[in-house]
Amino acid sequence: MSEQPSRRDFVKSAGLAAAPAVLSAQNANSELQLGWIGTGGRGYYLLERAYKGSGGPFKVVATCDTYAGNLARGKDRIQTMGGNSPKTFVDYKELLADKSIDAVVIATPEHLHYPMAIAALKANKHIYLEKPLAHTIEEGAEIVKLAEKSGKVVQVGTQNRSNSLYIKAKEMVAQGMIGDIHYVRAFWYRNTLPDNPAWRYAIPPDANEQNTDWQKFLGAAPKKPFHKGRYYQWRLYWDYSGGISTDLLVHQTDITNFVCGKTTPVSCVASGGVYRWTDAADDREVPDTFSALYEYPDKFHINYSCYFGNEKYGYGEQFMGNEGTIEVLNRQILNSTPE
Ligand SMILES: NC(=O)c1ccc[n+]([C@@H]2O[C@H](COP(=O)([O-])OP(=O)(O)OC[C@H]3O[C@@H](n4cnc5c(N)ncnc54)[C@H](O)[C@@H]3O)[C@@H](O)[C@H]2O)c1
Repeated sequence: MSEQPSRRDFVKSAGLAAAPAVLSAQNANSELQLGWIGTGGRGYYLLERAYKGSGGPFKVVATCDTYAGNLARGKDRIQTMGGNSPKTFVDYKELLADKSIDAVVIATPEHLHYPMAIAALKANKHIYLEKPLAHTIEEGAEIVKLAEKSGKVVQVGTQNRSNSLYIKAKEMVAQGMIGDIHYVRAFWYRNTLPDNPAWRYAIPPDANEQNTDWQKFLGAAPKKPFHKGRYYQWRLYWDYSGGISTDLLVHQTDITNFVCGKTTPVSCVASGGVYRWTDAADDREVPDTFSALYEYPDKFHINYSCYFGNEKYGYGEQFMGNEGTIEVLNRQILNSTPE
């Protein structure tokens, strides 16, 4: 979404994983006051990336998390790496009410992106919003609409756009090096031992209903009794996650759009299921086996596949032009082959 170039500089210097374009609205030279919502796996990592970047003019003045352990861990990281003691909140609305905060990083489970992003825009904040933009297409469209109206910077954490290999691939495509592209294959394959099922991340041993605000986690999701698996392994349940499509595929459709200059497909079909992790004790809902086909309006097609039971082919995108192929593998290797 649009923003003046001067504001982009901060993000570069802040060094967040995706070089976010989140900058102070009123004065590009002043220190950006940041609020950090969600300091779980990703939020905690992004904090480190911000501080280990070039140390641009920002200060994390507040942090929010509904699990006391992660709130304390986030605060500690800010103190250790930023040298200041942030305000702490369990309710993100209270953080957003702080008018001194220019921008927020939102790194919470997917179903919370929509209410948090809308509330942040209404509170006049710029946003670095972790992927996926939203849990549903309709929610995403609303965020985009409000973001455009607000004039705020909203950047989504599909950080491959900052990877030099994809930037190079984009240049090569634009120069016509592989001719016309109508077809892209993308894939992500993983495998783990049976005692380490996909997305069954470790639950903090101390987690309980007293230190985990279950109602705030649920937000507008269907009411359910406290369930540690749902809270700490939310990716496995439809109420909070779109599974492979919004967790993994989203990176690869996004980067395909970036490299090939596309935006929105007109249709998609997908199929899959829970084929591997069928143990009765495993109540996961989202597929571990998934394929999708996207059609774009201008004769462009993405063929996507993902499976959690074999990692031989790893991760990649193959841009199949009529005169050659560019493939980016494991986000670390770029191969170009003439046809
Ligand atoms: N860009 C990437 O490569 C990348 C990688 C990993 C995760 N992510 C994204 O980051 C987001 C977070 O994923 P994660 O792996 O860190 O999950 P996580 O479960 O490790 O962390 C989520 C955090 O949000 C907190 N939380 C839950 N409800 C909250 C609420 N109402 N208010 C404030 N905090 C709340 C949790 O306590 C937890 O600390 C997701 O959108 C995910 O898709 C992106």
